[in-house]
Amino acid sequence: MSRIIKKENKIGGEYEINPQELNDLEILKTPNKTSMFSNGRSALMFILKQISIQNTSIVYLPYYICPSVVSACKNSKFKVKFYELDEKFLFPINLLSKIEHNSSIILVNYFGFINNNKIIKTIKNKRPDIITINDSVQSFWTFNKSIADYSFTSLRKQFAIPDGALVYHNNKIIKPSSKIKENNFFTKKVQASVSKFKKEEDYIYLNLFEEGEKILDNEKSITKASIIAESIFNKTDFETITTKRKENYKTIYELGQKHSLDFIFPYSEEIIPLCVPIKINNRNKIRKELFQNNIFLPIHWISGYYNRKSKMSKEMADNEISLIIDQRYSEDAMIFQIKTLISLIN
Ligand SMILES: Cc1ncc(COP(=O)(O)O)c(C=O)c1O
Repeated sequence: MSRIIKKENKIGGEYEINPQELNDLEILKTPNKTSMFSNGRSALMFILKQISIQNTSIVYLPYYICPSVVSACKNSKFKVKFYELDEKFLFPINLLSKIEHNSSIILVNYFGFINNNKIIKTIKNKRPDIITINDSVQSFWTFNKSIADYSFTSLRKQFAIPDGALVYHNNKIIKPSSKIKENNFFTKKVQASVSKFKKEEDYIYLNLFEEGEKILDNEKSITKASIIAESIFNKTDFETITTKRKENYKTIYELGQKHSLDFIFPYSEEIIPLCVPIKINNRNKIRKELFQNNIFLPIHWISGYYNRKSKMSKEMADNEISLIIDQRYSEDAMIFQIKTLISLIN
């Protein structure tokens, strides 16, 4: 390989934050009046709280879902029922007659590839009693194009922002009320991202990220974003990020196709994915070998107690791995990622 990616340059993992970005602390002196919730779960808990005022506390979730979403529904004291997706990762419309009256359905835009609007339109026509919620955590770029009654997204997976989530309802973004307290996980996340930026020892920032995640996991109430998150978000150059993600996605797809990688979703120019999922054999072994090469690819999601009987969830839990295409990386990094993966598979 002529263009070598330096060993210390990692692909994947959480985002870094340049501490200089935090120098503009003027904003920190203002009271926290952020327009954002703290994270995806908090946004969802807020939505469920609104819904429970008038509707039944029953929510339908796909079996194939991040375990944290199941916890958020349970924290909100909702009865959770599950449905199996069809082969296109969509809600199977033939189940509609079995959905309880005045309940809610969560539909998910997986990795940014799944547009649920057509199915939501059908649900609204046939069953206007049902509330639809589009989980757009993996699809920031389309969260406000959803026709669901509610759509929500989370920022930290897409951007170098420690916290922050948005709720979209009736064509506008809903702000958390001033009574909602600020989350208490963002400080650890900021420290971790700065430590990663400074190239401190891996264990230092990994521990900090984990501590932050533990605080987040233990939070049972609705919280809002930090002013730091809001400030970084407002300064984000979305256009450059969009261009970079699209370029990387195209490079990854074209190279991967040449090597017959099993992409779960076909290529589309319109899509700005979170990451690009593929299926491989011996996934766990290859993933570990990729770690040795400083390539840290995520998987979505390991099986939980709630989805052991779901064929699709098992298939994804066993074989899925996602290629990284985000704005941090150059074309060379994309080539390195694919070449390394191919050399390990063969
Ligand atoms: C599809 C989906 N929904 C919701 C969440 C929860 O988001 P957060 O971790 O910001 O609470 C996640 C987290 O990864 C997710 O992947």
